[in-house]
Amino acid sequence: NKVVLAYSGGLDTSVIVPWLRENYGCEVVCFTADVGQVCDQHSFILSLSFWLMHVEFCSALQADCSAGDLEMDGLEQKAKASGASQLVVKDLKEEFVREYIFPCLRAGAVYERKYLLGTSMARPVIAKVAMVDVAKEVGADAVSHGCTGKGNDQVRFELTFFALNPELQVVAPWREWDITGREDAIEYAKKHSVPVPVSKKSIYSRDRNLWHLSHEGDILEDPANEPKKDMYMMTVDPEDAPSQPEYLEIGIESGLPVSINGRKLSPATLLSELNKVGGRHGVGRIDMVENRLVGMKSRGVYETPGGTILWAAARELESLTLDRETIQMKDLLALKYAELVYAGRWFDPLRYSMDAFMEKITETTTGSVMLKLYKGSVIVASRKSPHSLYREDISSFETGAIYNQADAAGFIRLYGLPTRVRAMLEKGL
Ligand code: ARG
Ligand code: SIN
Repeated sequence: NKVVLAYSGGLDTSVIVPWLRENYGCEVVCFTADVGQVCDQHSFILSLSFWLMHVEFCSALQADCSAGDLEMDGLEQKAKASGASQLVVKDLKEEFVREYIFPCLRAGAVYERKYLLGTSMARPVIAKVAMVDVAKEVGADAVSHGCTGKGNDQVRFELTFFALNPELQVVAPWREWDITGREDAIEYAKKHSVPVPVSKKSIYSRDRNLWHLSHEGDILEDPANEPKKDMYMMTVDPEDAPSQPEYLEIGIESGLPVSINGRKLSPATLLSELNKVGGRHGVGRIDMVENRLVGMKSRGVYETPGGTILWAAARELESLTLDRETIQMKDLLALKYAELVYAGRWFDPLRYSMDAFMEKITETTTGSVMLKLYKGSVIVASRKSPHSLYREDISSFETGAIYNQADAAGFIRLYGLPTRVRAMLEKGL
């Protein structure tokens, strides 16, 4: 009789409120998680031009589907006007970056060679807080989300509900109702005297958080179409980026980023700084066709400026601190790790166990990486670590007390023995 709804204030979730009341006769508590989908506050205070950008940006995003993009101002009145009994808002930014994003980064998780999992990582934190905290807080026995029945997000939300409170009932209106499009939804809203969100609907389905911004739908649905220049929101076109490169030093402690140019920053602050710098240089655009969990292929374009920088830095430092087999095993597990995260299995024992491995293996991955950002690319300039396994006195062409070149002859003879035996057989020797 009481349901917690993941709420964004957009048209879809605004219509879900009266729909839940009508069809389930329940009280609706709206829940909005701030995972960084709103531009950050510094820019607000710092400059007027940034502020104007902020307003334009958020209203462009506001009407998008799912618990994603929103404008916080007036959100509570809006939720109540739709018929909700209350709106609960939680700032999850630091938790999201520290407990979800950074572990994935440390693991090196990438889905299908390209996707840095921005949306995938946000779902479990939203679902966990929405249910473990909010549902308990307000005494709700059900939870609801605005995901369609064709996507990954529904799976991610619901697997989290299953894992953390299997007794909660789940309501997914998109899989039940017969509202099929925007016009339908507007009509339903009007019939139930729910104010229709004023901002114009963006043509793309977008999802934004501190790590990334995703674009799907409209012209992108044909993989043969190149994205339009004006679609991008976090990054400038690399062609328009400054012709002067920018150097950036990323400090890492045990596989986790801690500083930029020697300045220690909290996880969320660090990431949002890098988003600005990376965005300015057109870093982190990804265009791909991926396999959704529900079987279909889908085309998505992602902007992950800060994430792309951090990913490059973390992998680079590992080249100093990890040996060959360790890197191989880590990369092998990273593949599985990414698959789990994509599939919404964040709370599986397997993911926890892999994190234990990742934590242990990156214990000594401490140091810094100097990167050069230039017109969309991240170029590694230098790296250093107090735990580096690289020894100039061994590797240098100039010297060699520990490494005796004569030893190589015997090594190659034994290492190549099977190769030699096979060739002898083929040649009848
Ligand atoms: N395809 C990506 C994923 O599955 C992005 C999904 C974006 N979600 C959204 N509701 N627009 O993780
Ligand atoms: C949705 O269908 O709600 C968005 C796309 C996705 O979840 O993959």
